[in-house]
Amino acid sequence: MPTTYKLPCEKFKGIKTPFYYYDTRLLQDTIDAVKEEIQNRNGYHVHYAVKACAHPDVLRLIQEAGLGADCVSGGEIQASLDAGFPGDRIVYAGVGKSDWEIELGLQAGIRYFNVESVAELEVINEIAAEMDLMARVSFRINPDVGAHTHANITTGLAENKFGIAMDQMETVIRKAQEMTHTTFVGLHFHIGSQILEMDDFIALAHRINELQDRLEAQGIGPVQHINVGGGLGIDYAQPNENPIPNFKAYFEAYEKYLKLRPGQELHFELGRAIVGQCGSLITKCLYVKQTEHKQFAIVDAGMTDLIRPALYNARHCIENLVSKEEVQTYDVVGPICESSDVFAYDCLLPATKRGDLLAIRSAGAYGQIMASQYNCRPLPAGYLDKDL
Ligand code: LLP
Repeated sequence: MPTTYKLPCEKFKGIKTPFYYYDTRLLQDTIDAVKEEIQNRNGYHVHYAVKACAHPDVLRLIQEAGLGADCVSGGEIQASLDAGFPGDRIVYAGVGKSDWEIELGLQAGIRYFNVESVAELEVINEIAAEMDLMARVSFRINPDVGAHTHANITTGLAENKFGIAMDQMETVIRKAQEMTHTTFVGLHFHIGSQILEMDDFIALAHRINELQDRLEAQGIGPVQHINVGGGLGIDYAQPNENPIPNFKAYFEAYEKYLKLRPGQELHFELGRAIVGQCGSLITKCLYVKQTEHKQFAIVDAGMTDLIRPALYNARHCIENLVSKEEVQTYDVVGPICESSDVFAYDCLLPATKRGDLLAIRSAGAYGQIMASQYNCRPLPAGYLDKDL
């Protein structure tokens, strides 16, 4: 039986809704599960993808556990530094790095830049020269490997904007090697997010093997590290039954199929799998509205607080934290002036009334961090157990 991580409903009373709640015990247990898998495998390093959730206390906990940080902006680099991540545990990717962001990365002495174009490589080299520093660069290669997930969150197909085409790989590497202020250190990949089929990661491993062979045949490498990005998914339908993702299967897939060279490090950039299940969006039912066709539970959280359902048709499990009544069917909707402001269609909930607290589960990743102020709404707060 899995341990259950109960929401402290009593403590939620009197707190202004909507807000995010993060269960630090589950977060810690999740991190421990990751560490257990990587400890026994040589050269495995996990950089937490800060884009998933940058709540300062969440970041600090992850930092204190010894993981690294995977950033995609200067803001994320700064947030990671503020949480105590040393520069050499930070990696930085992104197709559009601004000059100030590159400067910040160089100043912080980050582990490496994941470079996504020749144009970017040239700018990094120039800025590093001005600062009289060497920039460690790794190339993000577009592996043209599909992933079985939502079209908006696949990134590794040839038609996506990310990375450098495989056929240009040698040219950019040689260019970096000739530059005065860049050191070429690795290869980076990322095929998408919310991936639950290990075969997708295995396909990436095969592709990387091919590319490594190709490079070595041309006298390049072996590179210091291979970074396979993130993407491991979570169980949105059954957060209570599966609070911790199957890290064993995930790391085993790479261990079994990716041919690391002696002394080579393998880096991962997991976001959702680490913080997804520990966060819930807590909201209050404002009104129940019955129409000819539907029964709506109108809650005070909206797509401004959690945009995943509106943006990706994502379905999060919703629980009524107080009602013990018989189950009824509701469309759970928010107050925003958009028809897509719907958290769930035909959701089964115990009879719900005004004032009931609801939890929208599995919202720790890409929840609070993607909140907006559309409709002049305040941003939702985020609390950990210690704050309540
Ligand atoms: N590394 C790179 C280069 C990435 O682009 C991403 C996510 C990650 C790592 C972390 O992926 P994860 O382990 O969390 O799957 N907002 C969307 C997800 C966007 C993911 C963007 N990139 C959502 O709510 O589903």
